[in-house]
Amino acid sequence: MSSSPPADIANPRLGLADQAARRRTFAIISHPDAGKTTLTENLLLAGGAIRAAGAVRARGENRRTRSDWMKIERERGISVSASVMTFDHDGKMFNLLDTPGHEDFSEDTYRTLTAADAAVMVLDAAKGIEPQTLKLFEVCRLRDIPILTFINKMDREAQDPFALLDEIGSKLALDPAPLYWPAGSGGRFKGMIDLRREMFVPFRKRGSDDEEGHPEAVSLKGNSLAGFLDEAEQAEVEEGAMLVQEASKPFDVQSFLEGHMTPVFFGSALRHFGVDQLLEGLGAYAPPPKAVSATKNGESVDVQPGDKEVSGFIFKIQANMDPNHRDRIAFLRLTSGKFSRGMKLKVQNTGRQLSVNAPVMFFASDRELAEEAYAGDVIGIPNHGVLRVGDSLSETGTLRFAGLPNFAPEILQRVRVKDPLKAKHLKKALEGLAEEGVTQLFRPSIGADFIVGAVGQLQFEVMADRLANEYQLEVIFEPSPYAEARWLGGEKADLEDFMGKHRAAMATDIDEQPVFLAKSSWEIGYVSERFPKVRFERSKERA
Ligand code: G4P
Repeated sequence: MSSSPPADIANPRLGLADQAARRRTFAIISHPDAGKTTLTENLLLAGGAIRAAGAVRARGENRRTRSDWMKIERERGISVSASVMTFDHDGKMFNLLDTPGHEDFSEDTYRTLTAADAAVMVLDAAKGIEPQTLKLFEVCRLRDIPILTFINKMDREAQDPFALLDEIGSKLALDPAPLYWPAGSGGRFKGMIDLRREMFVPFRKRGSDDEEGHPEAVSLKGNSLAGFLDEAEQAEVEEGAMLVQEASKPFDVQSFLEGHMTPVFFGSALRHFGVDQLLEGLGAYAPPPKAVSATKNGESVDVQPGDKEVSGFIFKIQANMDPNHRDRIAFLRLTSGKFSRGMKLKVQNTGRQLSVNAPVMFFASDRELAEEAYAGDVIGIPNHGVLRVGDSLSETGTLRFAGLPNFAPEILQRVRVKDPLKAKHLKKALEGLAEEGVTQLFRPSIGADFIVGAVGQLQFEVMADRLANEYQLEVIFEPSPYAEARWLGGEKADLEDFMGKHRAAMATDIDEQPVFLAKSSWEIGYVSERFPKVRFERSKERA
């Protein structure tokens, strides 16, 4: 991994590339309740970023009910650990990106995954692959993100590990390559065999509750297992380990990086077991930042992490992280160069220049001013509406990364403000929230109403809550006559013909792009047949 000194001197860019090479930027995906929050916290503990359990947990506990969601959103304001947590461990710099667990926020998750180089998929050992796991997995596959699997809650009665591996193979079309093999589960859970090192990693029930933790791993040779397993248990785990190695393909890093294989870890996040091993696996196998395709003055280029020019893209905007300051932070995923505080960066599509004087990096427990950052890192840029999700930033302002897509919303509602004198105010507020990506905004070409679109109902609730608290606007959502929205594509003449004939159903989005609002999916099928040259698109990349 490390370079020899002569190469260092010969190639002044190596410093940058080396810095990027030690970055591991990843997200955790899971079905709600599989243990993402608990695992996050324990990764931070294992990585030395926090000292005691409890810091992240509070969030998980509060998320149980719908009304609590609002509270949590507000609490997130205070808890900076919400969006990205950075920790330095064992020579690697880990950036853990948080993704909302609830499916109503899947668009947010999708955008966050564009900034991740790898993902940890957490499965509940008793439940296997659940619906939301599958959805999120598909997003990862779409973006070619390699996945590590953590089978959690082994301290509870679990499914047969062979069945769990089979399910990964059949439902995800992914080759599971176990790096460990568990000895029992639930009350009979005794630990796991480290298949690569031929060691046994013992689990002690009380390991999580006292200072001693779990015993050290022991070699499989000799009879050191005897202290941990009775004869029958020993025979069972050894046979399982042998069988699984015969039945599964050996772990191949290349295949993992290409998205065909997933290394499988077992553990109990709650009992602090298996988490060190997962962290080690992330350090060893998860990829560092790679080249990103972009255009520079219209020409295609590959932006290398070691390129000198500082560049990156905004994948998320979060308002009110600190409610006392009403701030708005744009999260910039760096793609190249060495960023230093005070640097000037230009936004590609607007040409606006920003002096990034107070960037923040998110060390697990607190915000800190980022003095420098490299490809793979995420920095928060406080701003008041200058930056939008999908913006490309670079020193010259000429680099443009592929935009982040917008997806056709699944629910469309009309929004009105209770006090008609505040209608103008509402427009600004709705635009602000749409720029952050909270909801989508459509302005019908006829009439003065706004239509807001979302993937899930909770998005409307968050929106109403924020409109009330941040903008002092009481709004009413009403059913709209529309069920579907589609962006239009095609030749200008065909589009004009279509729009001319459907003026009452046309709207514009926040970028002034034309959108067709349909009353049903049947209607989309109908107009698609009648206007075969017009494309009715479910997603849009920002122009
Ligand atoms: P999520 O973020 O994926 O939604 O899951 P979260 O970590 O909040 O965990 C969901 C529940 O599963 C929590 O229990 C948590 O304590 C439990 N859990 C997580 N990991 C493990 C594990 O390895 N073993 C066991 N036995 N339980 C685990 P809860 O009762 O819903 O909440 P709480 O009362 O414990 O906070």
